[in-house]
Amino acid sequence: MALIKLAGIERVFHLGDSAVHALDRLDVAIEAGEYVAIMGPSGSGKSTLLNLLGLLDRPNAGSYHLEGRDVTTLSPDEQAEVRSHRIGFVFQSFHLVPRLTAAENIALPMMLAGIPADERSRRVAQALKDFGLDQRADHRPDQLSGGQRQRVAIARATIMQPAMLLADEPTGNLDRATGDDVIHLLEQLNAIGMTLLVVTHDQKLGARARRQLMMEDGKLKQDSASTSLRDNDSYPPSPLSGKGGDGGSPAAPAPGVTV
Ligand SMILES: Nc1ncnc2c1ncn2[C@@H]1O[C@H](COP(=O)(O)OP(=O)(O)OP(=O)(O)O)[C@@H](O)[C@H]1O
Ligand SMILES: [Mg+2]
Repeated sequence: MALIKLAGIERVFHLGDSAVHALDRLDVAIEAGEYVAIMGPSGSGKSTLLNLLGLLDRPNAGSYHLEGRDVTTLSPDEQAEVRSHRIGFVFQSFHLVPRLTAAENIALPMMLAGIPADERSRRVAQALKDFGLDQRADHRPDQLSGGQRQRVAIARATIMQPAMLLADEPTGNLDRATGDDVIHLLEQLNAIGMTLLVVTHDQKLGARARRQLMMEDGKLKQDSASTSLRDNDSYPPSPLSGKGGDGGSPAAPAPGVTV
């Protein structure tokens, strides 16, 4: 069973008399444990796709099955529940809560999910350590560097141990070296089983993923998984992932993820 299965997805935005087909009859399936880069020109529908996958938006038509369950027909409360437990989201501009410290930002999803205080403290302490932030626990976002902010955002996105992590241009506001650190962090999370979908404009970054989806005008123009390479016995495993190229059956993420 695919982790994600989209069939005939359409998302149309109406502005006055004109309609923009941000997603146009999109079909795609993604297996658990995959590392997928979503690429394509500005306006091709990448963020719209990620927002739908993250249940931040609803399609006008088509179906979205997540772990075999049709999530398009769920109520807003049921969707929030799925989002809280199964989906992590990382944005280009971090989206941290400005008046909360790093530790409080990381704890937020657990507060919303009603996880008891002692369990929250334990997991936050572990995450701060894992993400190299233990000296920054009490800093607010404006007292952190860009790279540190994104690490807090990734810690927050993964603290509930979601099945998948969706990242929309996670390195877009970072310099190359800091961006590379963030990508390594995301790749380590993928290596221990978290499905990773990254929207990027950066060709080099996109090439690191085991699968590339190329969007154009709301359509999937190319999917590296359906090219002959993928079906060829000589399909090379990614040298960067240290794993096979099939993206299949990973181990479940361990509690208290160490990266
Ligand atoms: N809320 C909205 N209202 C109207 N049109 C929208 C809305 N959101 C997106 N669009 C339109 O849908 C299309 C796809 O937008 P989307 O943000 O998904 O593109 P993108 O591929 O992420 O681009 P970029 O690389 O610039 O971030 C664009 O033409 C955009 O103008
Ligand atoms: Mg975008």
